[in-house]
Amino acid sequence: MPAVQQPDWQDHPAYAETCEALASAPPLVPPGEVRGFRQALSELASTDGLLLQLGDCAESLYECTPRHTSDKIEVIDRLGDRLSELTGRNVLRVGRMAGQFAKPRSQATEWHDALSIPSFRGHMINSELAAPGTRKADPRRMWWAYEASDRVQRVLRAHREGNRRAARTEGPWSSHEALVVDYESRLIRRDPDTGEHYLASTHLPWVGERTRRSAEAHVALLSTVVNPVGCKIGPDADPDDVLRVCEALDPQRDPGRLVLIPRMGRDRIRESLPPIVRAVVNAGHPVLWLSDPMHGNTVKASVGLKTRHLADVVTEALWFRDILDQQRQHAAGLHIEVAATDVTECVGGSVAGEEDLARHYTSLCDPRLNPGQATELIEAWAKDTATVGPGPRRSGPSARPEVAA
Ligand code: PEP
Ligand code: CO
Repeated sequence: MPAVQQPDWQDHPAYAETCEALASAPPLVPPGEVRGFRQALSELASTDGLLLQLGDCAESLYECTPRHTSDKIEVIDRLGDRLSELTGRNVLRVGRMAGQFAKPRSQATEWHDALSIPSFRGHMINSELAAPGTRKADPRRMWWAYEASDRVQRVLRAHREGNRRAARTEGPWSSHEALVVDYESRLIRRDPDTGEHYLASTHLPWVGERTRRSAEAHVALLSTVVNPVGCKIGPDADPDDVLRVCEALDPQRDPGRLVLIPRMGRDRIRESLPPIVRAVVNAGHPVLWLSDPMHGNTVKASVGLKTRHLADVVTEALWFRDILDQQRQHAAGLHIEVAATDVTECVGGSVAGEEDLARHYTSLCDPRLNPGQATELIEAWAKDTATVGPGPRRSGPSARPEVAA
């Protein structure tokens, strides 16, 4: 099957041994956790709870220490608590972390001082340092990503246990884009209790806008595992394509299995999203709808840096909620890129204008909200969720159909 966005590293002397090491390595996530998380998502679907998924665009291998991880978890919990307090709803938390090390890129190469070099593709593949040698894809990075993910998963696990003991809401769970097929395919494991296959690299893998074709490797891979799975949907998505992905990833129409994540852009969402929601609802897929109001709103600032304007992000998120409300569907929450530190990567709130961006811009890839900007987004989102909320669900085609044996 064709697999787009893959590193060209099969000829590297360490390729075969790295793949073998991954195939025989312990699972990063045990099967019981995947089952528990899936159960929590299906309960969320039936109780109109909320889902908050957030973290770095690209995780750094150098920021996987217990200290970095605790700082990230602290922000996730703080934002989750705020959303819960404002809406009165349970908020399930998911980090873009413990494996978010690979990036799809629109351009394979980029220019640096009249030199064309490969684009940075995430620490699982190459280095962000801009030189031809450091940008060469190195398969050993898959192993470094595995080890770093393991360190982060351990801290997440301890924290989830603490939250559970304190009878706080569940999470944070892990998630990342399942992009590198060499890596993900070697971390599929069999659950000894159920005999089912699951992806042991994370709780919630997703396919991106560039890798969601139903006849391609990424969707095929996720169709073979029982984890809950996500799928990004861009503004040019054809409703029939989305239905094909839904059929591939959720043939049984199971609540809690599929999270659809539209990332349309402020200017496109009102035209692009309604026909997609209608098609998915009519096909009977009980998906969770999550808004990514960031990836369709990236612009190049005058200072040359990529940025996003908080006002655009808020506008898209609110339109998303209105569109779902109008179709009597539950707008389940947000998927956002947020830093744990006070970065100046997006404009709005504490970052007054584009001239302030260079002050503390540390993202390896896309511009993230800082925690204050993320709080503003969450407060705007929560504003009428608490009072209006979703209307009564449409019955008929949107009700869960009987699945033939
Ligand atoms: C991302 O989430 O960082 C990303 C690349 O998203 P998308 O696939 O929606 O472009
Ligand atoms: Co991103």
